[in-house]
This record gives sequence, structure tokens and C-alpha cells, in this order.
Amino acid sequence: MDHLFTPYQLKGLQLKNRVVMPPMCQYSVTNKDGLATDWHYVHYVSRAIGGAGLIIIEMTDVEPDGRISDYDLGLWSDDQIAPLKRIVDACHQYGARVGIQIAHAGRKAEDAEVPVAPSAIPFDENSKTPRALSTEEINEIVEKFRLAVQRAVKAGFDVIELHGAHGYLIHQFTSAYTNKRTDEYGQDLTKFGKEVIQAVKSEMPENMPLIMRISGREYVEGGYGIDKAIEFSGVYQQAGVDMFHISAGGEGPIAAAGRPGTHVAYQVPLARAIKEALHVPVIAVGRLDEPGLANAVIGNEDADLVAVGRGMLRNPYWTLEAASALRQETEVPRQYTSGFPTR
Ligand SMILES: Cc1cc2nc3c(=O)[nH]c(=O)nc-3n(C[C@H](O)[C@H](O)[C@H](O)COP(=O)(O)O)c2cc1C
Repeated sequence: MDHLFTPYQLKGLQLKNRVVMPPMCQYSVTNKDGLATDWHYVHYVSRAIGGAGLIIIEMTDVEPDGRISDYDLGLWSDDQIAPLKRIVDACHQYGARVGIQIAHAGRKAEDAEVPVAPSAIPFDENSKTPRALSTEEINEIVEKFRLAVQRAVKAGFDVIELHGAHGYLIHQFTSAYTNKRTDEYGQDLTKFGKEVIQAVKSEMPENMPLIMRISGREYVEGGYGIDKAIEFSGVYQQAGVDMFHISAGGEGPIAAAGRPGTHVAYQVPLARAIKEALHVPVIAVGRLDEPGLANAVIGNEDADLVAVGRGMLRNPYWTLEAASALRQETEVPRQYTSGFPTR
């Protein structure tokens, strides 16, 4: 029976355990140039020392106007490769594998003068009204996703995650709530996502898996539910996604009836539903930072990997502590063995 410390393999990606550090924006770029800084280096390498099997670097954007804020990471320029490579190489030394979440914020780009989106609908009354993208501009953004992934491959990443969740550009196209286009990108809500998948796959080695993060349900009035998420995920799977990372919401103001739970494991049923319906590997995330619970998600086959976000913000050594708590063997850096004695 698999548990949190059972190794895992997906195509050429070999993980020493099932623990994932999910993408978490640090808004710590100093010169608005998208370059990773020493903060990012220390932050990610600490979690590699702390034992995480897979570290997915935060939302990293394909163009300047695709950033949530001017302090986001970017991969629109070759200059951005080297500081990311430094992080990847260091994480590898501690046995972690490293992914990066490639994204465009679309209408949620707060510092863009005029954000872009499938349709000219603002996120809420306090947000800028975005400009609807032309077909030509859509093609250009798909190309920017391709180039960003080409750079990520050069930086040595082991896996790519596309941000298709939380109301960012790919989700904006996939959702009938934000995509009101009458052209082919509105008739087929998955057209943009499929084109991005195909473009980035063309840059990825054959044995490198592609992960897509999706919102398994929406929380706006009239938003889609898990059935719709299964339907479009099936299309994205056909287009080349190897694994889904199941989150939820983020598309707009939360409806009174749609408020997400704040209890532990609140998104696990969504992950399980996608896994069961599509026979595809999934990452579960959302308040899974109690080791016994995270272990149960793997043991019960709800998900293949478990991501621990805020728990790892609190404690970079979450994984080493979880191994102690679960009495499982894991590799501890030589310098820290006295902190994690083996029984
Ligand atoms: C500070 C912070 C930044 C985040 N940034 C991102 C991000 O860049 N991309 C993303 O998909 N999710 C982001 N998230 C969501 C997390 O990846 C994760 O799904 C969420 O925190 C729930 O997991 P948890 O309960 O283990 O923290 C962020 C969360 C936090 C707390």
C-alpha cells in the first residue's frame, strides 16, 4: 500500500516521496524585471533541504502584462533563465525535483495599464476593465507560453505546470462565466487551453510530464461544478496533460451559496473525482498539512501526490517532520540528522 514516502514516477519524473510544495507567489522580485532574487533562492532551496519531493515554483508569467503584480517572476526574457537555473540546480543537490508554474494573469493583472482577457468583463467593481484579445493577440500569447516553456527547459526544470486555475487567463477562456466570445475561442471554450498545451509540449522533452492546475469548481453565482471540470479536463488530457493539480475557485466574487469550506481536505473530493473519471494522476491540495491526513489521502488513493502550501510557509522542514511523525524513513541532510534521529 502506498504512503506519503513511497517513491513515485510519472514518465521521466522520479520523485523520492509524494510531498509537493505547491506554487505560492512571493511577490519578491525587486526591480520589476521578473528576475528571481536571493529571497527565491533561500525560500525554495530551504524546502528542498526540508525534504519535499517536488517543488513547484510560483506563478511565473509569460509577458509583463501577464503578471498579477510587477513583483511576480517572469520567463519572457532569456535573462530570467540563469537565476532560476541556480535555484533548480541547488534543489537538485538535495534530491528534490523542481517544476515551475507558467501563467498569464489575464484580467487579474493588477499593475497592467489595460489588462487583457477573453472578454471585456472586470473581475469585480474595484478591478480594471480588461480589453478583449484579438485573434492575432491570442496567437501571440500562445507563442509566449511556448517561449517561456522553452526557457524553463533550458533552466533545467523537471516538470512544467500550466496555471489553468484561480481565474487566470487559461481559466478565463475555459469558463463560460468569463468567456463570452462569439468567435471560435468562444464556441469552443477549450480552444485556447488546447493551443497552449500543444505549444508548450512542442518544447518539452518527450518524457517530461505536463501538469495542469485547474479549478475543480467555481464559487461564483452560476459557476461550473465538478462535472464540467471533468469534461474540460478530459479535453486537456487528450491534448497532452499528464497530471492535474486540483484546486478551486478564484474566478470572481464568491456567491453567498458558493462559499468554500475551510475544513481540512476541503478540495480532496474534487481531486478524487477527476482521478476516478479520467484515470489520470492528480495532486490534491488544500489544508492537508496534518501528516496523518496527508498520508491517508495517498493510502486511500484519493490522489497520487499531496501538496502542502501554508504548512510549508510555516515550516520548511514539514516533510522531514512528517516522516518522523509517520515513522517513515527519509533522507535527512547530514548536517540536520541530530534534529531528526532515526529510531
Ligand atoms: C502566499 C500564497 C501564494 C499563492 N500563490 C499561488 C500561485 O502562485 N499559484 C497557484 O496556483 N496557487 C497559489 N496559491 C495557492 C496554493 O498553491 C494552495 O493551493 C493553497 O494555499 C491551498 O493549500 P494549503 O491549504 O496547503 O495552503 C498561493 C497560496 C498562498 C498562501
